[in-house]
Amino acid sequence: MERREFLKRSSLAALGTVVAGSGLIQAINHIGNNELKNNKMKIVVLTGSPRKNGNSAYLAEQFIKGAEEQGHEIFRFDCAFKQVEPCRACNRCGMNGPCILNDDFQELRQHLVEADMVVFATPMYYFGVSAQMKRVIDRFYAINGQIKGARKKAAFLMTYADTASKEAEPMLVHYRTLLDYLGWKSVGEVVASGVWTAGSVRNTDYPQQAYQLGKSL
Ligand SMILES: Cc1cc2nc3c(=O)[nH]c(=O)nc-3n(C[C@H](O)[C@H](O)[C@H](O)COP(=O)(O)O)c2cc1C
Repeated sequence: MERREFLKRSSLAALGTVVAGSGLIQAINHIGNNELKNNKMKIVVLTGSPRKNGNSAYLAEQFIKGAEEQGHEIFRFDCAFKQVEPCRACNRCGMNGPCILNDDFQELRQHLVEADMVVFATPMYYFGVSAQMKRVIDRFYAINGQIKGARKKAAFLMTYADTASKEAEPMLVHYRTLLDYLGWKSVGEVVASGVWTAGSVRNTDYPQQAYQLGKSL
């Protein structure tokens, strides 16, 4: 399918995202897609690392801690520990229907549709999100019609070994472009640079930023 057609197939054009700069956090309080009556949200947290005690998992944990303290409901999906096939582009779903693949994405599907917010927590793998996470993002295709324009919030937590902020740009552009397309609004980005070994992020103030982001919701 041509990109133009891909864009045309789903309803409304995306809204601009509001993003924070590297390492900064910005929270926006507005009513989301499906926010619970007392402003409590259903939040899906996608993690992308195969390292259970790795850096991005720790940022996700800290975000969850803050968000749970505020009473939000979390559904965590650890992409690297789930059986999720890559999209086969058969187009049987028509971007809005049942998927021919019967795997762990089924656990996530309805949570994504109902979520008020989606958080992406991933390591940098060759300047992109991990393949484990990308596989899951590509499966959004079958629910595209239900999640596009759905006024969800989102956040991005990323970790990488190098320190040059320029190297984080491709991932941030990807995240922001995805949100722009879906019409979701970013409430924050935590960009943790200079963390290589599993757990080294604990010696930085990035976990506190992730916690504060969750707490600010
Ligand atoms: C396959 C692979 C590719 C990587 N690519 C990059 C890279 O392009 N740039 C970088 O700075 N670090 C890279 N790293 C390092 C990780 O991004 C870094 O260790 C990160 O903190 C891992 O997060 P995690 O502990 O959540 O898995 C790579 C690591 C792996 C295993």
